Amino acid sequence: MTAKIKLRSQLHLLTGFTGGFVFAFVLLLYVYDVSREAPCWSSSTTFSTATATLGRPAEAPLSRILCMVLTHPDNLDGLARTVHDTWGQRCSQLVFASSDTYEPLGVVQVVEPNGGGYEDLWNKTREGFRHVWEHYGQDYDWFLKADDDTYVIMENLQYLLSGFDPETPVYFGHKMSRYNVSYMSGGASYVLSREALHRFMTLAYESEVICPHPKKMGIEDFYMGICLQNVGVHFVDSTQALAGDTKPKFMPLDLENYLADSNSSIPDWLRLMSVPQVETGLRCCSNYSVAFHYASHERMLLYEFLLYHLRVVGRPATTETYKKYQLSLTDLTSRFPLENNSYIKDLQQMSEKPDNF
Ligand SMILES: *[C@@H]1O[C@H](CO)[C@@H](O)[C@H](O)[C@H]1NC(C)=O
Ligand SMILES: *[C@@H]1O[C@H](CO)[C@@H](O)[C@H](O)[C@H]1NC(C)=O
Ligand SMILES: *[C@@H]1O[C@H](CO)[C@@H](O)[C@H](O)[C@H]1NC(C)=O
Ligand SMILES: *[C@@H]1O[C@H](CO)[C@@H](O)[C@H](O)[C@H]1NC(C)=O
Ligand SMILES: *[C@@H]1O[C@H](CO)[C@@H](O)[C@H](O)[C@H]1NC(C)=O
Repeated sequence: MTAKIKLRSQLHLLTGFTGGFVFAFVLLLYVYDVSREAPCWSSSTTFSTATATLGRPAEAPLSRILCMVLTHPDNLDGLARTVHDTWGQRCSQLVFASSDTYEPLGVVQVVEPNGGGYEDLWNKTREGFRHVWEHYGQDYDWFLKADDDTYVIMENLQYLLSGFDPETPVYFGHKMSRYNVSYMSGGASYVLSREALHRFMTLAYESEVICPHPKKMGIEDFYMGICLQNVGVHFVDSTQALAGDTKPKFMPLDLENYLADSNSSIPDWLRLMSVPQVETGLRCCSNYSVAFHYASHERMLLYEFLLYHLRVVGRPATTETYKKYQLSLTDLTSRFPLENNSYIKDLQQMSEKPDNF
């Protein structure tokens, strides 16, 4: 009981600390011309006449991105293998987190064999991040969490991340809001900087007042949002991550649902929870989209073929030339103020909320 009270007062301290910062950032927002602080990539329209070298940005050193893909033993011969053979090849390091080991695909066991089902997703995510942090924490800049039915365009992720410094606490994805708490959609995949993962592991992982402890039917993405905002991580919705491009880039649905020029293919839950507006038709999604959810085996192969194989005769490839802009912590802080986490009053109560996601 005393421990609990002590921890709770720590949380209040943290909340007060965060609140103070939020106030300061709001002030800063008035002082600075925020638009001038935006990273300014020159999205060049120069066409390359040489054979296009697909899969490598023309300039700027590549960031080291570790991809952690959650999977299940039943999916080894289906989705996991397809991820491994397609977009997973373009990660700096690919790690599948599962409830059983399978070396040929680089699948590691992070939870007990009977603890890897859908209802244990939160524990699998926590344990997956623990594994990744222990084995690779110092070797990579960014840590992507995807599901085995997510298709990721790694080059566009490189492009998006190149404006940010992995030593700042930052978290990217498709921003959602539930019970007035922000988080990034899990199926659309999300990305943590090394500093965000460092804080998750050192400040949040062990603390049951900062971060919900593992339990059945824990809501993985929502809980991750709680943990990260409680340790001062900045949330960057993908509509705000690239200067001059305000369309979403991490998509919680399959692309086909967005392209249908009607609203009926968009489920109500997405409209209710999505922070960026959900649009349909050809302009639904950024031309620099990063990820699509609910990808079947066939859908992944379709994306792979269209993006990396198919050539359209007479259509030159574009080469994006972009300068590496390291958004400093001060800039990050003024452009992406910390979340107001005052709604997270009692984690126990929060995790008992009806689970109607
Ligand atoms: C979470 O996974 C760890 C590692 O397998 C295990 O020790 C722990 O009991 C699990 N917790 C729950 C609530 O399933
Ligand atoms: C969210 O905040 C609004 C405005 O303060 C409030 O009216 C609403 O009841 C809150 N919703 C939840 C689920 O707490
Ligand atoms: C879809 O819904 C949005 C917002 O509810 C509305 O503005 C738009 O006109 C709708 N589009 C179609 C094609 O019905
Ligand atoms: C996306 O690409 C299409 C086709 O090239 C173009 O018409 C459209 O303007 C682009 N969108 C943006 C926001 O640049
Ligand atoms: C955070 O939200 C609470 C509850 O709505 C509000 O009272 C408080 O003023 C907000 N803090 C900031 C810094 O916006």
